[in-house]
Amino acid sequence: MSNLTFTMIKPDAVKAGHIGAILAKINEAGFRIKAMKMTKLSMEKAGEFYAVHKERPFYGELCEFMSSGHIVAAILEKDNAVADFRTLIGSTNPADAAEGTIRKLYAKSVGENAVHGSDSDENARIEGSFFFSGLEQF
Ligand code: RTP
Ligand code: MG
Repeated sequence: MSNLTFTMIKPDAVKAGHIGAILAKINEAGFRIKAMKMTKLSMEKAGEFYAVHKERPFYGELCEFMSSGHIVAAILEKDNAVADFRTLIGSTNPADAAEGTIRKLYAKSVGENAVHGSDSDENARIEGSFFFSGLEQF
C-alpha cells in the first residue's frame, strides 16, 4: 500500500545549505518525490499552516521562524509514508533525536529543527493540498 506524507525543509536548513543533503537522505530512505518546490511563507500563511498550534506558547515564534526565509515543500510517496518519514527525521528536539536522523544531523534546536513531517494520513493530504494543486502532483 503506497501512502503520502508532506514535508518542508525549514528556513534554518535552507539557509545553512542543507537542501541537497536532506533530499539525498529522503531518496536513500526510499521516498518518491510526487511534488516539490522552493517557496516562502508569509506570516499569515505560516499562521494558517500551523493553526492547530494556535494556543501553544511557541506559536508566534514558530510563525516568525517559518516565514523568515525560503522553504522547500514536497509531497513524498512510500509504503507507510507518515510513520517512516517521522522515523527518518527524528524527535522534534534534536537533542532527543536518534543518531543518523535528519534532525540529529541538521537541526539546531527544538524550534529551528530543519524539517517538517506530517503526523497523520489526513494531515498529509491537507498539508499537501495547501501547497500543491492536483496539476502539480505527479
Ligand atoms: P513538525 O510538525 O514541524 O513536523 O514538528 P513535530 O510534529 O515534531 O512537532 P510539533 O509538536 O508539531 O511542533 C511543530 C513545530 O513547532 C516548533 N516547536 N517549538 N519552542 C518549542 O518548545 C517548540 N515546540 C515545537 C518546532 O519547529 C516544531 O517542529
Ligand atoms: Mg507536527
